[in-house]
Order: sequence, then C-alpha cells, then structure tokens
Amino acid sequence: MPNQKELTRRRFLLLAGSAAGTALVSTACDAIAGHAGSEVRFINTSYGEENSMSKKVLVTYASRTGSTAGVADAIGKALAKKGASIDVKPMGEVNDLGQYHAVVAGSAIRGQKWLPEATEFLSVHQAEISHKPFASFMVCITLAMKNGDQYREGLKSWMASVRSAGKPLGEGYFAGALDLDKLSGMDKIKMGTAASLGIFPKGDFRDWNAIEAWADSLSGIL
Ligand SMILES: Cc1cc2nc3c(=O)[nH]c(=O)nc-3n(C[C@H](O)[C@H](O)[C@H](O)COP(=O)(O)O)c2cc1C
Repeated sequence: MPNQKELTRRRFLLLAGSAAGTALVSTACDAIAGHAGSEVRFINTSYGEENSMSKKVLVTYASRTGSTAGVADAIGKALAKKGASIDVKPMGEVNDLGQYHAVVAGSAIRGQKWLPEATEFLSVHQAEISHKPFASFMVCITLAMKNGDQYREGLKSWMASVRSAGKPLGEGYFAGALDLDKLSGMDKIKMGTAASLGIFPKGDFRDWNAIEAWADSLSGIL
C-alpha cells in the first residue's frame, strides 16, 4: 500500500496535470474558475475572565477559507471552559507574545504544508515560542477522505518544520472543509477537479467533539 506521501504526491501530480491542461485549453478557464463567492470569516475574539489567577493563552491561526479559524475558535472556547483566559487571533494580527503564558498555533494545509504565513509566524516568534508552553495543529482535507484516518500517521511529516521550531507539547490533526465557492482561479480548478474525481470530498468535515477533546487534553499541560 502506498504511504501517505507517495499517495498524495501522485494525486497532486495528476491534479496539477489536469489543471495545467485545462488552463491551456482557453482563457475561458477564468469563467469556469470564477471568483471566491462566499464570505470568509476570520475570527478575532477573547474568551474567559482575565484575572491574576488565570493563565493567558493565545490561540492563533492561518486560514484562507475560514475553516481553520473555526477550529481555532473551538479550541479557544474549550480552553476557556477549563479556566484559561484566551485570545483567538489570525497570525497576521499578532505582534507581541509577551503577554501570553502559552501559545497554540495552527494552520490550514496547502500542498502538504502549513501556509507560508504560518511558517513565517513561527520563524519571527521562534525565540519566544521556544520558551513558552506551545502546541500546534493542522487542518486538512486528507482526514476527510474515505478511510482518511489511515493517513493520520503519515500526516505528521507535514508538521515536521513546526516541530523543529517550537517543540510542541501537543499536536492536533483535524479534518477541515472544502467549499469551492470560497476558492477562485487555479485553486478552484485544482480542488474542483480533485472533488469531481472523487479524491477529496466537498463539505465541512470538522469534528467538533475531537477538536474539543484535543483542547481539553492541553489544559493540563499548557
Ligand atoms: C489549493 C489548495 C491546496 C490544498 N492542499 C491540501 C493538501 O496538500 N493536503 C490536504 O489534506 N488538504 C489540502 N487542501 C485542503 C485544505 O487544507 C482544507 O480545505 C482546509 O480545511 C482549508 O482550511 P481553511 O478553510 O482554513 O483555509 C488544500 C486546499 C486548497 C484550496
């Protein structure tokens, strides 16, 4: 049986080929691809009481179509229920980690990697993150595939760079969402092709119980 890396690389090569072929056919591609139609919600909020007894935790995320924002929000709510004071913020809106006792950082996966802005966030804040309790997570569509769980172990390599930068105390791997209305251009063509070939499923596959359980598992260690 092919391992995760081989499987997805082969599938992505196939997709890239189909997408490039489509692009050559005509500039009508843009009409097919359309533009991102539905609204993407990036969450910036706080949960829990801030007081001298509570630990302040940052849950920060990189997301393009909003599903990772929702996962970060659920993690923030669950940690707040356990008594922490939480800020949930997009990575682009975080300047200073000084006020936080601990950091939970997560990214959507594209091309089997954290988004570039998430990797950049880690490198900018690496010195501080390496001295704080830290946990990381990823949101991808592979885990939503039929029998996607069999790839869970292989997905760990997609967070290898995060592991070397931040030494996470916990790692979360979550199924995300594929909403073609939120994509445009080649991204829409590529993922639309994958969906129509039955490789990736369309829809929202976030498992709120699994996300909450993971957040609960962090509350004792962050
Ligand atoms: C261009 C593109 C590339 C993607 N690449 C991968 C991938 O390599 N592996 C995977 O499992 N999911 C991949 N996905 C699926 C996303 O990780 C998934 O849709 C995720 O929920 C998106 O998170 P967001 O809504 O926070 O942007 C890709 C999605 C897009 C649009």
